[in-house]
Amino acid sequence: MTDLSAFTSLRVGGPAKEIVNASNEAEIIAAVKAADEAGKPILILGGGTNVLVSDAGFDGVVIHISSAHVEAEVDACSGATLTIGAGQPWDEFVAITIARGYAGLETLSGIPGTVGAAPIQNIGAYGHEVSEFITRVRTYDRAERRIKTFANEECEFSYRSSRFKNELGRYVILDVGFQLRRGEVSRPIIYAELAEALGVNLGEKASIFATREATLRLRAGKGMLLDGGDHDSWSAGSFFKNPILTPEQAAELPQNAPRWLQEDGLIKVSAAWLMENAGLHKGHERDGARISTKHVLALTNMGGASAADIAALAKEARDKVLEVFGVKLVAEVNLIGLTLD
Ligand code: EPU
Repeated sequence: MTDLSAFTSLRVGGPAKEIVNASNEAEIIAAVKAADEAGKPILILGGGTNVLVSDAGFDGVVIHISSAHVEAEVDACSGATLTIGAGQPWDEFVAITIARGYAGLETLSGIPGTVGAAPIQNIGAYGHEVSEFITRVRTYDRAERRIKTFANEECEFSYRSSRFKNELGRYVILDVGFQLRRGEVSRPIIYAELAEALGVNLGEKASIFATREATLRLRAGKGMLLDGGDHDSWSAGSFFKNPILTPEQAAELPQNAPRWLQEDGLIKVSAAWLMENAGLHKGHERDGARISTKHVLALTNMGGASAADIAALAKEARDKVLEVFGVKLVAEVNLIGLTLD
């Protein structure tokens, strides 16, 4: 039996009873139908970059999605309409769009994982989320046993969430449609750290090429680019979501805690700041699991950690933040076969 540690960026996770590689849509649907008809549980795995799989592994069928294709229709007025296979590595896709002069995805450069996983947690970075660029998501619906396509408005996108996360496991994503502008000017740069790196004022635009390069540099500096030689990147990215609080709850936090007002009046606060200020510092180790030396939100495997070690470190962080600030951090990473409770 193959250990799932070989398929995840955290490099932890026990054996899978069965692993199927699905490299095109027909293979994905056939594998899902066969497992469903046999009553076997299914785990869909793309890049394995946002999961923590337990040491017990997965007692069912792991379907590894590697269907990668890029189809583009370009029109002088409407820009580029693209359809991308679920297994396409995300950053290779972003690199293609930038090289062809399609603007939009530049601040989402360097995010690990696949195109099919992107809508599930509505990936985002440096002020933009993938939901701004998705036109539709085509899926196989396991409940109704048929192909179902969702327009953007039907995807229930919100901060690091979507209908595909709300009903995790029901929909298997087949391909994703994007609409991008033609041009070499970025979206407005609305994240202070990126504006500074680019030497522009907040709200100004930059070239998509420079924005991609600056974004990749910032991510690398935080250990948030996959790099086998950098143990700080043996992680699943940000382990916790940034909590979204009511104004009353946010008012309880120290004044210097960073906060961002949301459109609905709620307030997003920084999970990283809460961890640091609760006393969880970069480089803090526990049985082979370590808080990244570059960014506290990334929990990493120093080499010999088990899934239980990573989970124990996550519990320590969550409990400490709850004790000091009364805020309960929620995992952003998908937990397979284990919980933090
Ligand atoms: N901070 C610390 N300690 C740290 C790092 C950050 O105290 O080690 C504080 C600082 O005050 C900083 C604030 O946290 O100003 C925010 O940090 P950062 O700009 O790195 O962003 P983040 O909120 O930690 C989010 C996303 C990232 C995304 C970045 C950049 C979440 C959970 N994380 O991180 O996305 O790349 O913004 O836009 O929303 C991910 O979701 O997996 C992810 C990596």
